[in-house]
Amino acid sequence: MESALDHEAARALLEWQVELGATEAIGDLPVDRYALPDTVTPERTRAAPPAPAAPVTSDSEDPVAIARDLAAAAGSLADLRAAMDGFTLCDLRKGARNLVFADGVAGAPVMIIGEAPGRDEDREGRPFVGRAGQMLDRMLAAIGLSRAENVYITNVLPWRPPQNRDPKPDEIGMMTPFLERHVALARPSVLILMGNISCQAVLGKRGITRLRGGWAQAMDLPVLPMFHPAYLLRQPAMKRLAWADLLELNAKLRAG
Ligand code: URA
Repeated sequence: MESALDHEAARALLEWQVELGATEAIGDLPVDRYALPDTVTPERTRAAPPAPAAPVTSDSEDPVAIARDLAAAAGSLADLRAAMDGFTLCDLRKGARNLVFADGVAGAPVMIIGEAPGRDEDREGRPFVGRAGQMLDRMLAAIGLSRAENVYITNVLPWRPPQNRDPKPDEIGMMTPFLERHVALARPSVLILMGNISCQAVLGKRGITRLRGGWAQAMDLPVLPMFHPAYLLRQPAMKRLAWADLLELNAKLRAG
C-alpha cells in the first residue's frame, strides 16, 4: 500500500516529535493495523460489562506480603538479587530490558538510593550511568568518594518505568521490602536519599526542598536527603545547596 506520507514529510513529522521530547518508538516493529482482525464489538451487540471481581484479600496474594517474605529469606545480596529477578508481581518488569540491582562496593560506608532506572540504566543493567549518573560521580568525587572505592548505589525500583514516568505508590510499596533488605545486607554507615521518591520509600514523606541537608534516622541508620542529580542538571543554581549537603556528608563521615 502506498503511504499517505512521502519520505520528507514522514521525516519532518518524526523530527517534530523528537523536538517535543519523544525519545523512543513504542514498539520495535511496525504494525500494519489494517491487516489486524477487527476486534471492536459494534456498539449494538456489545455485551454488558462483567461484574467487578471480588477483591483479593488473602495475605498469600498480597504483593507486599509476598515481597516481604521473599526479601526476608534472602541471606546475601546475591540471593536478594535472584529473589527480585524472580518477583513477577510488579508490572514494570514487563517493559524493562534488565533488572537494575546495584553498583559500587557492597559494604561501603555510603549507600545511595536513587529513584528508578532510566533508559541508559535499563540498557546497561547498572544504576546511574546516564547524564544524572555522571553528575552524581562528579558530586561524589568533589568530596573524595567514588563507586569504585567507597560508595554503593541502588534505586527504589529496579525496573525502568515506561517513558520514565514517576513510580506509582503501589510500585514503591511492593518494592520497599526488597530495598529494606538490601540496606540490611549491604550494611552501610549512612544512607543518602536522592530526591522525593527515595524519601517517600525510606522516610514515608516527600518535600525534598525542606528535607534536604537535614539528617534523619531510618532503617536504623543516619539518613541524608539530597537533591537528585537530574534535578541539579535542570536547576544548576541549586548546586550551591547540594554542595552544602556534600560537605555535611563529608563531615559526618570524618566524625566517624
Ligand atoms: N536516576 C535514578 O534515580 N536512578 C538511576 O539509576 C538513574 C537515574
